[in-house]
Amino acid sequence: MVKPDGVERRLAGEIIRRFETRGLRLVALKMLHPSRELAEAHYAVHRERPFYGELVDFMISGPVVAMVWEAGDAIKLCRNMIGALKPFEAVAGTIRGDFTTEIQTNLVHGSDSLETAQSEIALWFKPEELLA
Ligand code: CMP
Repeated sequence: MVKPDGVERRLAGEIIRRFETRGLRLVALKMLHPSRELAEAHYAVHRERPFYGELVDFMISGPVVAMVWEAGDAIKLCRNMIGALKPFEAVAGTIRGDFTTEIQTNLVHGSDSLETAQSEIALWFKPEELLA
């Protein structure tokens, strides 16, 4: 997902281009302004964290681009392309390493496991919005 800061900074195209030129298959894509309920459900796993409220506020501050990308080992591949969560660990060549120094406004969210991907896809997309 391209987060609100990515859309605001006109980086959505650049981010999509990176996944596309790497060779992943785009299975679904939509732009939407998430509701508070949707953002809260998306980050429910972080509910007890001190940054949760701020994180949800940030996620509903503007439109996002939700996407489903397919590839072998897609989770690990995408996470490597996105870059580390801690800004000082995100290396050049990754999306975060090239475009942000912040932990919250970090441009992109990527599912961290197959199980998370399945539940996040179900949260953001209707089955008929996914290409076969
Ligand atoms: P994401 O990969 O979407 O997963 C959870 C998000 O919480 C993370 O990216 C960051 O945007 C945010 N996050 C994680 N740790 C912190 C933190 N210490 N302070 C603020 N935001 C954080």
